[in-house]
Parts: sequence; C-alpha cells; structure tokens
Amino acid sequence: MSGKDIYSRIQQDLNNYYSNKDNNIWRNNFHIEMPFGLVNDPNGLSYYNDKFHIFYQWNPFGCEHKNKHWASVKTTDFVNFTKPEIILKPEDWFDKDGCYSGGAYVKDDTLKLFYTGNVKDENNNRESYQCIVDYHKDGTFEKRGPVILKQPEGYTAHFRDPMIFDHHGIYYMVLGIQTEDLKGRALIYKSEDIEKWKFAGELKTNMNDFGYMWECPNMISISDNKYAFLFSPQGLEAEEFKYQNIYQSGYVIGDLDLHKVALNHHSEFKELDMGFDFYAPQVFNHYGQNIMLGWVGMPEEDAEYPSATNGGWMFPLTLPRVLEYKDNVLYQKPFKLVENLRESQALSVKDVICDDYKLKLDSRNVEINLDLDLKESNYVDLKFKFNDEYISLIYDKKLEVCIIDRNNMKLGGKGIRKFKLKVEDSLKLHILIDNSVIEIYYQEGLETTTFMYFPKEDKLEVEIKNDDKLKINQLCVWNLRGVKYE
Ligand code: FRU
Repeated sequence: MSGKDIYSRIQQDLNNYYSNKDNNIWRNNFHIEMPFGLVNDPNGLSYYNDKFHIFYQWNPFGCEHKNKHWASVKTTDFVNFTKPEIILKPEDWFDKDGCYSGGAYVKDDTLKLFYTGNVKDENNNRESYQCIVDYHKDGTFEKRGPVILKQPEGYTAHFRDPMIFDHHGIYYMVLGIQTEDLKGRALIYKSEDIEKWKFAGELKTNMNDFGYMWECPNMISISDNKYAFLFSPQGLEAEEFKYQNIYQSGYVIGDLDLHKVALNHHSEFKELDMGFDFYAPQVFNHYGQNIMLGWVGMPEEDAEYPSATNGGWMFPLTLPRVLEYKDNVLYQKPFKLVENLRESQALSVKDVICDDYKLKLDSRNVEINLDLDLKESNYVDLKFKFNDEYISLIYDKKLEVCIIDRNNMKLGGKGIRKFKLKVEDSLKLHILIDNSVIEIYYQEGLETTTFMYFPKEDKLEVEIKNDDKLKINQLCVWNLRGVKYE
C-alpha cells in the first residue's frame, strides 16, 4: 500500500470505530485515548483559535514504541471533541524515525509547533533535529523542517522535546539532553523572532548527578519571579517513599536567571504523581492558569497493559489539571471544565458515623469527593472492589504514609506504591474513576496518584473502613458522562 492509502485506511478505521464501538470494558469514557495503536506524551498543548488543542504521540500502526506521529483532538469544553486526526507523519529526512515530543506557542495568528525529528542510520546511530511547523486556523499546516540541526559539543544525540516560553519579549526554548558522560541536563536556546535560534547555555541547577537523561522539560512562570522547572528524569534509584517507577516526572521551583542561564535557590525535586502510571507531562497557560496533562503510562513496562493484546490499544492521557503554587509546592486540581463531565449526582451525605461504609456504584465512571474525619482514628482502608478483585488505598496517620496496592488484581500491573502524606484532622480524597484509569487527588491536590487497572468484571463497589468508628464528614458522588468525538 502506498503511504496515502495507508493513511486513508487509518482514517476509515477511526471513523468505523466511532460509529460502531466495541464493548471492551477497559475503553475509557472520559480520558482521551485512541481506538487502536499506542499513545504516549501529550504534545503541543495550547489554547488557539478559541479551542483547546491537544496533540499527542501516536503510533497508529501498532502497540509498539515506534512510528511516532502527532495526532490531535480539539475541544472547547472537554466533553465534545473533534475526531482524532493525524497531524505530523514521520516521512521527511529530518524525522523519518519519529516525530517526537514538543510544545506549541501561539504567535500572531499562527500556532507554532516545535518537535524533535528523530533519525537513525543503519547502525542505529541517532540524530535529533528540532523542527518547526506553522499550524493555521483552518487546520492546514506547513512542516518547515529543522531550526536546530545538531546538539552542541559535549552532549549525545539524546536531545529532544523542545518547549517554548517567553520572557521580556524574547523567546526561549528548553530541551532535554544527555552529556557525553551520561548525565541528564536541560539546554536553553533563545530567539528574537521564534524562527532563528541561538544556543544560550546549559541550565545551571544543583542537580548535577540526577539521572542519565532528562526528558520533556517545561519551564513555567508561577509567580512574579518564580519558575517551576518540570522534567522527566531517567535513572534515579528507587527509595522507600520515592522514585518507585522506572522513570519519574517532577519539578523544582527556583529563581530563573536567563542571563546566567541558571535556576537559582531551587527547591528539592518533587514528583508530580505517586501512582504507577504517570509520565512526560506538559503544561500550557490558559488565561493565567497553568494547565497540565500527562501520559497515563510508563515507558518500558508494556507487559503491564493487557489492552494491547485484548483490544489493540494502549494508554490514555490524564485529565487536564490546574497547577497552583502554594507553600512552595504545586497543588493539582482537575481543571474547572472537567465538571462538565458530571451527568447526575448519585449521592451526597454529611456527618455519617458507622462501622464501615459500602458504596455500590452503577458504573465505573464516577467522581467521588470524600472527607474522612481522622481526629480519633489513625488508619483508613479503602478498597475499590470489582467482584473478587480489588485495589486498596491504605492511609496510616501515625506513619504519615499512604499505600496503593494492586496485588489483588488478576490482570495488568501489580505491586504497591508508597508515599508520605501528612494529614491533620481529615483525609480528603478526590477520586475520578474511568474504565481503566483511576486518578486520586489527596489533600486538595498536594499529592496525586494516577494508575491503570484492568478488572475482569465491570463492577464497582467502594468499601471504607478504619480502626475505630468511621466518621464521614462529607461524601459526594457524581455519575460522569463519556466524552464525544464528532
Ligand atoms: C517520553 C519520550 C520523549 C520522546 C517521546 C517519543 O515518553 O521518550 O522524550 O520525545 O517519548 O515518543
């Protein structure tokens, strides 16, 4: 088949899917995902032409990490989306082995997309080209090729994921890279016109020995002079309460000096999400709010996701989350428009005292807001039950530890994730459950855990117990609607 035929086949397969959905119980209803193939990082996030543009990495040909394209959906309300479309195809000399991740910047009437063209030769030697695309209001675009041809001296070709920010009328690009002695770093380039880029330097931080590669950097302004530098380092060693996935995503907050290319007085690295499946997040600004979407997945852990062999697709994106800077950390909350997903209120109770609480649910598409009184008890055991399988969330107030345990699921990834969480009087959980993703926001978004689950049966009951009488200050449950692609 010619390239053109292959792509019209893909478009047909997409159309067929949306007019004739299967009833696989793991298909997510309100997290963005594709009917087939492999999705990874969110890319080019932007608000342009009165719409949210969500681009993302997609392999339309199968569930392997290759053939990376950019696909896109658009929305105004996070309920109604346009049907996915392929935007960038890896078919030019500068991106033939993948149109890798990157960001967007709205300039005048054009959405400027930046991405890394990945090129490999017959010996698997890599070249990385930072490329630009002009994307227009009518959806047409021009792939204009490389604006940066090669990494500077002293670094390997692991050089990717350009993100643009501006400061005092100058454009800056931040990129992830690896030094020749295999340390992860970020580089900054600058430009006056967003077209011609000059190397400004390596970002100085105090993380000189912090993994062998930094992927997907974002530099975001969070208050008058503070910046959060988000990135996804590879090669950190697991600790009891941290860094438990193969790779991490997190941030430091500091004072950005762009003349010296330094992030001064920065905080310690904090992971953005403590669940099993969260990586490569990207942030964009929407009327002053920093909104983040991440990839619900993990590189190199493909065996944990049985939807590849039972359904032929892999990985959603997270819901959009607002980042709020408070007490030197970034709190995360679902973006306001996510409330559009609420179809009906299933329950709203206050001040319930009981031995344990069982919440039987009609569907696995729900939002739960729970405030549990912990003044007199020290322990919470909450289970998401799917008949004889379950995932537990355990909180120990004395140890200030939270544990998510997936060992009682039959399919998909197992194991536990542990993290520190300080709770004074009440444990506040905001939980969004979709058919194979659960997002939990703790203590107003101080921590989050995002993870996938693959139940054998389409049932859900939430059971809550503790070491004393259970005191529920408040419990609200909403049934959520599915998003539409039209
Ligand atoms: C992160 C990442 C990026 C790269 C992209 C390729 O998941 O490895 O660094 O651009 O995926 O799909």
